[in-house]
Amino acid sequence: MKGIILAGGLGKRLEPLTRITNKHLLPVYDRPIIYYPIQTLVDAGIKDILIVTGGNHAGEFLRLLGNGEEFGLKHINYTYQKGEGGIAEALGLAKHFSDNDKIIVILGDNIIEKSIRKYVDDFIKQPKGAKILLKEVDDPKRFGVAEVKGNKILSIVEKPKNPKSKYAVTGIYMFDARVFDIIKTLKPSDRGELEITDVNNDYISRGEMTFDVLDGWWSDCGTHESLLNASNLIKQLRVVGQV
Ligand code: DAU
Repeated sequence: MKGIILAGGLGKRLEPLTRITNKHLLPVYDRPIIYYPIQTLVDAGIKDILIVTGGNHAGEFLRLLGNGEEFGLKHINYTYQKGEGGIAEALGLAKHFSDNDKIIVILGDNIIEKSIRKYVDDFIKQPKGAKILLKEVDDPKRFGVAEVKGNKILSIVEKPKNPKSKYAVTGIYMFDARVFDIIKTLKPSDRGELEITDVNNDYISRGEMTFDVLDGWWSDCGTHESLLNASNLIKQLRVVGQV
């Protein structure tokens, strides 16, 4: 399975930190944010990785990461997203790379505590469709929120005013090759983006979406609070020598 890291966008919620650099190059404790999703994929056994980035500082990724030797990789692929057309738009740029294979997608600012290998192995065995990972949070309004009944997701609402559960949709998604056909049908949302939530709802409406609840902590880095939170969580892991 191939891995795609989405590290485009302009990171406006982190102004002025993101005025002169890309959000994913900012530090979380002792490493740039982008290091963490790369390591998450490598730890899950994914070696064929594409990074989609954008904005004015895309060249810095190459300078920082090169061919990924630090992660035991021989090569990293890069693609450029013009503007900030949304997560699904950024993913659409990875079609050529996916080669009709199943893919795992991780948002470049999502940081997690534990390995996702078991979920990836399960998805490899899943005949078709998609899989997402949910996590209970105290502030679901900030995320895509899943309404869950038993082992089924009924729907996902992006940043709901009245969330139907505390289950946030984390930025780790597994899709079959149909995802690129779904992306072609999307229309921009009220915030002017092609939404990954619309992609996920398409799979849900076909009865082809599975989910797990993520083991261990999860943080994004999209706000000053969550960026600090991620640094503190990583610091604790380093102190106990877990990573
Ligand atoms: O973190 C999980 C959440 O991420 C999900 O619960 C939401 O359903 C999903 O929409 C997303 O919400 P955000 O509003 O927090 O996403 P944000 O705009 O911060 O983008 C997250 C990452 O996606 C960002 O670090 C880089 C990538 N991205 C985003 C945009 C808008 C791109 O590569 N290109 C883009 O155009």
